Amino acid sequence: AATPSPLPPPNPAGSPECVFAHIRTPGRNTLAGYRATGGYQALRRALQELTPADVIEQVRASGLAGRGGAGFPTGVKWQAVADAPGAPKTIVCNADEGEPGCFKDRALLDYDPFAVIEGMTLAAYATGATRGFIYLRYEYPATYHLLAQALAAAREAGYLGPQILGSDFSFEIYLRRGAGAYICGEETALLNSLEGRHPFPRNRPPYPVTHGFEGLPTVVNNVETLASVPPILRHGPDWYRALGLGEQAGTKVISLSGDIQRPGNYEIPMGLPLRTLLYDWAGGPLPGHTIQAVTMAGLSGGFLAGDDLDVNLDDPSLRRKGTFLGAGGIMVFDDRRDMVQVAADAMAFFAHESCGKCFPCRIGTQRLHERLDGGGPSTWEAWQQEVADLGRTMRALSACGLGQAAPMVTDSLVRYFPVQIQAHLAARPADQVQHEKE
Ligand code: NAI
Ligand code: SF4
Repeated sequence: AATPSPLPPPNPAGSPECVFAHIRTPGRNTLAGYRATGGYQALRRALQELTPADVIEQVRASGLAGRGGAGFPTGVKWQAVADAPGAPKTIVCNADEGEPGCFKDRALLDYDPFAVIEGMTLAAYATGATRGFIYLRYEYPATYHLLAQALAAAREAGYLGPQILGSDFSFEIYLRRGAGAYICGEETALLNSLEGRHPFPRNRPPYPVTHGFEGLPTVVNNVETLASVPPILRHGPDWYRALGLGEQAGTKVISLSGDIQRPGNYEIPMGLPLRTLLYDWAGGPLPGHTIQAVTMAGLSGGFLAGDDLDVNLDDPSLRRKGTFLGAGGIMVFDDRRDMVQVAADAMAFFAHESCGKCFPCRIGTQRLHERLDGGGPSTWEAWQQEVADLGRTMRALSACGLGQAAPMVTDSLVRYFPVQIQAHLAARPADQVQHEKE
């Protein structure tokens, strides 16, 4: 039987939270429990007092940006769908959380499903959409049953379906399961999958805001993004903005795992120093060990190590270090780990999950994996040259984020761990080196 995901640990710093503010309240995942903790106040107020344009303006003013990884401004996306000609319009909740090391959406859906449903309903009211889909990761079967019950309860109580809360606004949500493919988390592959087509990513532009589900205007938002909307409308955009540190707006849920004392989902103020999260919030490395490296954006942001662990967790700071926050997965590797092997495993994952539509990614991920796994040149200069060439080609010519992000693993491995790579190359069998010389 499927086990429920762990409840997020209490916020270690007591810092104000947005999406986790009520998640630990027992019963929050029932309709009665949700309503008892402020649930559906935002929707009721929006329907009674706010125009769709007001809702979009509040979301825009809050600074909320896509929490699935890309950080596109949510208000701008909603405005584009509201403005786009064509109907019916659609709201898609991307719950295909496939990034290794990311497990925040599962926790949100397990413990606060109505927040996501209310967020989708507000998105529909704001943009004029009448139908919605939750596209749920196949590997979350317990979540599927919870969500199905939550949707039925919302429908029964008049929060979904025709004439919501007695207004003239109608909206229905359908629950769909993926089939275990990482690529279906890419929004246009997801849309193809929803339509029953082969899940190749589509070329963008045009973007889903104008050409989404069935070629019609569509909002595709991540679970965490949608769950942020009801509290933003309840407390106001200034409240949300102020949750971040310095210039940063809002919060981000980080899924922390690996060689760390207290792994789990943490909702941090945007801009929190990485070291504060690792050492003060999560207790630091396991006894007798030191932190050698972390991955960012699950695997998609490659590694951070050495002095770069002194970075703040916000995208401007992380970009300066050659990485990004992405969906917020951070995996910790201590001094026992062979980082070349870690990189080889990461590349094997990308090679396996490449959809194969474009050859720089289909072949490049395989070639990079071979070079991390004992194949390719044995001299450091030649190895480095080949890996850099492959990465450049993949970044320039891959059609979607998978092929563009995979070389971040090798780029960051070369940046931080040249000595470990050279040790691997030196350990290669003598006959392979001899063969190369011939
Ligand atoms: P993107 O930056 O191309 O697009 C982000 C969003 O903004 C999309 O919804 C796109 O439709 C929209 N958008 C961009 N430009 C637009 C425009 N001019 N007009 C209207 N809409 C526009 O990023 P992408 O490829 O959608 O996502 C990549 C991210 O996904 C990465 O940051 C990665 O971290 C994350 N990711 C998350 C995973 C997860 O499990 N949550 C798994 C794998 C990757
Ligand atoms: Fe498919 Fe990779 Fe091309 Fe993306 S980059 S479309 S995953 S082959």
